[in-house]
Amino acid sequence: MHTEVGPVDTVDDELRAQLLACWADVSNAGGSVGFVPPVTEEGVAPYLDAVIERVHRGRELLAVLRVDGRLAGFAVLSLSVSPLRRHWATVLRVQVRPELQGRGLGRVLMTGLHDIARTRGLEFLHLTVRGGTGLEAFYADIGYREFGRMPGAIRVAPGDDRDELHLTCRL
Ligand SMILES: CC(C)(COP(=O)(O)OP(=O)(O)OC[C@H]1O[C@@H](n2cnc3c(N)ncnc32)[C@H](O)[C@@H]1OP(=O)(O)O)[C@@H](O)C(=O)NCCC(=O)NCCS
Repeated sequence: MHTEVGPVDTVDDELRAQLLACWADVSNAGGSVGFVPPVTEEGVAPYLDAVIERVHRGRELLAVLRVDGRLAGFAVLSLSVSPLRRHWATVLRVQVRPELQGRGLGRVLMTGLHDIARTRGLEFLHLTVRGGTGLEAFYADIGYREFGRMPGAIRVAPGDDRDELHLTCRL
């Protein structure tokens, strides 16, 4: 199995379709990437297109994970507009295709993302995790620590409010 994680500056139609299928499939499998199931590709498309637009403007960095040449996951780095925060970025939408999860690829994706971030001069990363998912254990393994939480910030369903956990990693 050959894995690679690379930065993408330009998203063409073929890559857009792969990213869209990934994001919808991961969401429908219960992943915490901005939606609750069920979602359709049409429902996810405006959010993906907004990411692509920010990537093309240089506001966000897209890291794509490929396994044997095929898209297996992706993550986004949102860069700060403040000149005082150029050493910080926020990690968003970390995901591995559902059928490929649990084989170490999430760690490969994050390690590659960290390499890309370092190359761009970043020193700290920030990300948020939906409470009750256990995902903080995944991030703790790769160097993240919790520094706070926003109580009840995520309403996954009426009567099911989750804390939003804030994590950080020094690169
Ligand atoms: C989170 C995600 C990217 C991890 O990728 P993955 O390929 O499944 O994870 P890996 O196989 O690399 O796991 C690495 C380690 O993290 C642990 N881990 C992975 N997902 C976990 C979870 N949800 N809860 C607790 N631990 C987890 C694994 O057990 C493994 O530990 P080990 O090395 O001791 O066995 C992937 O499961 C995914 O896409 N999930 C859906 C989307 C999502 O929720 N993203 C998070 C947004 S904050």
